[in-house]
Amino acid sequence: MKIAVLPGDGIGTEIVSEAVKVLEVLDLKFEMKSALVGGAAYEAHGHPLPESTLQLAKEADAILFGAVGDWKYDKLDRPLRPEQAILGLRKHLGLFANFRPAICYEQLVGASSLKPELIAGLDILIIRELTGDIYFGQPRGRRTAVDGHFPGAEEAFDTMRYSRPEIERIAHVAFQAARKRNKKVTSVDKANVLETFQFWKDVVTDVHKEYPDVELQHMYVDNAAMQLVKAPKAFDVVVTGNMFGDILSDEASMLTGSIGMLPSASLNSKGQGLYEPSHGSAPDIAGKGVANPLATILSAAMMLRFSLNQEAAAQRIETAVQKVLAQGLRTPDIWSEGTTKVGTAQMGDAVVKAL
Ligand code: NAI
Ligand code: MG
Repeated sequence: MKIAVLPGDGIGTEIVSEAVKVLEVLDLKFEMKSALVGGAAYEAHGHPLPESTLQLAKEADAILFGAVGDWKYDKLDRPLRPEQAILGLRKHLGLFANFRPAICYEQLVGASSLKPELIAGLDILIIRELTGDIYFGQPRGRRTAVDGHFPGAEEAFDTMRYSRPEIERIAHVAFQAARKRNKKVTSVDKANVLETFQFWKDVVTDVHKEYPDVELQHMYVDNAAMQLVKAPKAFDVVVTGNMFGDILSDEASMLTGSIGMLPSASLNSKGQGLYEPSHGSAPDIAGKGVANPLATILSAAMMLRFSLNQEAAAQRIETAVQKVLAQGLRTPDIWSEGTTKVGTAQMGDAVVKAL
């Protein structure tokens, strides 16, 4: 089991060290190799995603990624910015399926901005298509308008597009994930206005014929945004396109309290995956030893489950995290009166001890 470890910038190095500690104590045979990525790679090699890092990632069964970015790189040309590293990895490895579970741990119910009864026991999975949609569709650009409301004016345009195979493969991923859960998929679209998403709805409906045991619901994205805060527990698996998924998954993340708790997985058709916390490099707290490492540790659990076929070990990590929370240990982002404030390394050590 080859793991490429790419800590990156800011808190990336601090939180990835804790996840590596946790993996090492599992007594499984991993081959872990680290490489620089993002700003750290730019400093050393002049590029955020050096060929050697990309090669290591391609040869690995799974990638454990921290975070990239820092305000000090804002003035660099776009291709040299740290964030290009994560976009490059997604593109080169064909990572089209982004899994973002939003789980509200019993011990953290009070940390959410929603009423406890709405989110207690919450366990939903947002699956976002990651390589298509308006984010990548061509043509795009700026030009002088020849028609529309203001002919002759400067205008910008992007193209929303999805092909049948792109929708089919993400729909299969969603139905298969639902089979292992509560057998319900909500496909989110805007079919009432957009042809791309009428097509999305039609293709998801076609794929559903192969999964008669799974319930399929279609929902417009505006309603989905509302339902997520009104009755989030009514969802099980949510599948949607790149842009709607970007927005809805951030919304869902806040249901659970802190972004420091949220893992993610991005998978390709070979089962290879990149696993990273949902948050960024948090330059405001980097180097202080206070970042919450649990999102990264839970991402390592997802890695064991999805790419390394180690379900039992994944569950062991998840149980250990709950145990540590039950002991009352909290990094500052999830701390509340009556619990014990700990730093990044102490939290990692506690998970290791619980294991
Ligand atoms: P961020 O997620 O890094 O931070 C947002 C807020 O959440 C900050 O106040 C931060 O301190 C806090 N936070 C984040 N992770 C935390 C953790 N584990 N424990 C405790 N608190 C935590 O987002 P922001 O500030 O918008 O971006 C900072 C940099 O990260 C930027 O350069 C951005 O481009 C990059 N970024 C990178 C991502 C990636 O590597 N996949 C994803 C998102 C942002
Ligand atoms: Mg986002």
